[in-house]
Amino acid sequence: MRSILAVATLAAVLALATFPIRADDAGDARAKALKEKLEVCAACHDEDGVSKMDGVPSLAGEPDFFTEYQLLYFRGETRKNEQMMAVARDLTDDDIRDLGAYYASLPGPPALTDPDPDPALTQAGAQLIKDRHCAQCHLDTFVGQGEIGRLAGQREEAIVKALHDYQHGARRGAATSSCRRSPIP
Ligand code: HEC
Ligand code: HEC
Repeated sequence: MRSILAVATLAAVLALATFPIRADDAGDARAKALKEKLEVCAACHDEDGVSKMDGVPSLAGEPDFFTEYQLLYFRGETRKNEQMMAVARDLTDDDIRDLGAYYASLPGPPALTDPDPDPALTQAGAQLIKDRHCAQCHLDTFVGQGEIGRLAGQREEAIVKALHDYQHGARRGAATSSCRRSPIP
């Protein structure tokens, strides 16, 4: 028994000596994995993380934990979306950490420069946001924090869909009962 153990230990030592794992190699492999994943994400969320596609939210400037949590929800299929569940299925925990950090490092979507098509609607929204204290969590600049999503510069239809999903229970994140107190039927 002892000799079998000794042989196994020797084999393990030799294997380590023959294939030393360098920290650099591990780092390179992780950077390469991130690059490959980002190419997939860019197909819908765009290279700069500012979506140009209807129904696809922007990711640029989202707080790190917000992105990480959403990817965990898609991977665990508690947030359901066919496209995102297919993407998240293959993500490792390290991929999710790296993707969260990457999108948080990008500048958020630029403010609109086109003339406001419906200033009365914008005004009504601003009043609701004030009355319902949305900034308490999403911050005065609406950049979000921690697991709380960024709303500033987010695509309008993506915000509307998120509120519908919270209201109808299709999406359940932390504290969403607060976001749900929205007037949208
Ligand atoms: C085929 C298109 C497609 C690809 C590829 C894709 N996404 Fe998405 N993603 C979507 C759609 C559509 C949604 C909105 C889902 C919904 O309405 O619930 C979304 C939502 C998200 C969200 C939630 C954002 C929010 O504001 O709620 C995150 C985070 C996200 N995607 C990250 C990624 C990452 C990271 C990748 C690459 C690994 C990726 N996506 C690849 C289409 C895609
Ligand atoms: C108590 C804290 C809190 C308050 C108050 C709050 N939110 Fe949120 N909000 C959150 C959290 C946490 C998330 C992320 C939830 C998740 O994981 O899906 C979120 C997510 C959102 C999202 C989805 C973002 C995305 O990209 O997917 C929208 C839209 C939103 N909130 C709007 C609002 C509005 C509008 C109000 C005011 C009526 C509001 N929230 C008030 C905590 C809050």
